[in-house]
Amino acid sequence: MALITWDDSYSVQVKDIDEQHLQLIYLINKMHDAMSTGQGKLILAEILEELVDYTKTHFSYEEQIMLKCQYPDFNAHKDAHEALTKKVMDFQKRYQAGQVALSVEMMNFLKDWLTNHIVETDKRYIPYLIK
Ligand code: FEO
Repeated sequence: MALITWDDSYSVQVKDIDEQHLQLIYLINKMHDAMSTGQGKLILAEILEELVDYTKTHFSYEEQIMLKCQYPDFNAHKDAHEALTKKVMDFQKRYQAGQVALSVEMMNFLKDWLTNHIVETDKRYIPYLIK
């Protein structure tokens, strides 16, 4: 069963960004499935790398759009992106070094990390991006 199921409450009403959020949800679900079915560390590390890379791509895309639309809370949003990226990269480093395991707690952290950011932070730019 998927860890995160997309519904309209996640939509930011911008097609490209919704598609990117869907891809992030897909990658977190893929990692959750791999963990649940006992896949090896190499597979999990590959999916984690995909997630880190796609997260950076998405954040960079979103920042360009916010700048273009002169979103007034751009700096705070960019800071939130940097903090989230650092958290997931720190986890990736510790995972690669064998200092931490991919656990239910970690999957829940990733789930909350993404869904809270979309619902609480991303949605604030909607009026600026769609006008
Ligand atoms: Fe969709 Fe601010 O990340």
